Amino acid sequence: MKIAVVTGAAQGIGRRTAEVLAAAGYGLMLMDMQPCVATLASVRAAGVEADEVTGDVSDEALVTRAVERVRAQWGCVDVLVNNAGISFIAPAETVEGKAFLRVLEVNLLAPFLLAKGFGAMMLEQRLGSIVNVASIAGLVGIGDRSAYNASKHGLIGLTRTLAAGRARGEVQCGVSGVGEDGDGCGGPGRGWV
Ligand SMILES: NC(=O)c1ccc[n+]([C@@H]2O[C@H](COP(=O)([O-])OP(=O)(O)OC[C@H]3O[C@@H](n4cnc5c(N)ncnc54)[C@H](O)[C@@H]3O)[C@@H](O)[C@H]2O)c1
Repeated sequence: MKIAVVTGAAQGIGRRTAEVLAAAGYGLMLMDMQPCVATLASVRAAGVEADEVTGDVSDEALVTRAVERVRAQWGCVDVLVNNAGISFIAPAETVEGKAFLRVLEVNLLAPFLLAKGFGAMMLEQRLGSIVNVASIAGLVGIGDRSAYNASKHGLIGLTRTLAAGRARGEVQCGVSGVGEDGDGCGGPGRGWV
């Protein structure tokens, strides 16, 4: 069985992503600040194994626990979808540093921590794909979204950096993150996004 981790899975894009992955047969570890009650019911109804880790994905200790849970429960991870994110709309001159940093923590630090933790498992397996959910705000400037735009620009930069780094080793990199190695832990393919 292939295993996917989806953050921000309680609602919205994260919930739908989990449902699509469940329909494709992925076992799921759902992560969110809120309990993923509806998403869990929906993906389990599709017949896949699913569990959740509730808490703040920018908390490094929580990310470590989630990695340990996935390792103990399934022993592998095929896909990480870094979807959890927060918006913050206010004129730049009114934004306090603490609020700005909070957006960076959730939208940029958390994907880094998750990519580090689950990416280490993927590198051991020589198999895996990481999908970072950015935004058009990561490519262009949109008014009154200084922190959000900065976080999504940073997330695209982080994605490029991880892809470039992994391209040098035995793990391939690419935008689709699939390749040709099979190891019995999710089927053929290796790579990073
Ligand atoms: N909805 C859009 O139009 C849109 C457009 C571009 C990009 N995005 C991006 O897509 C992603 C999902 O957007 P959405 O509209 O589904 O958002 P949403 O607000 O509906 O859902 C986000 C989920 O993330 C969770 N979350 C927030 N902070 C968290 C944290 N610190 N730890 C754990 N969970 C946390 C929330 O509880 C929520 O369940 C975000 O990264 C967002 O920036 C959304």
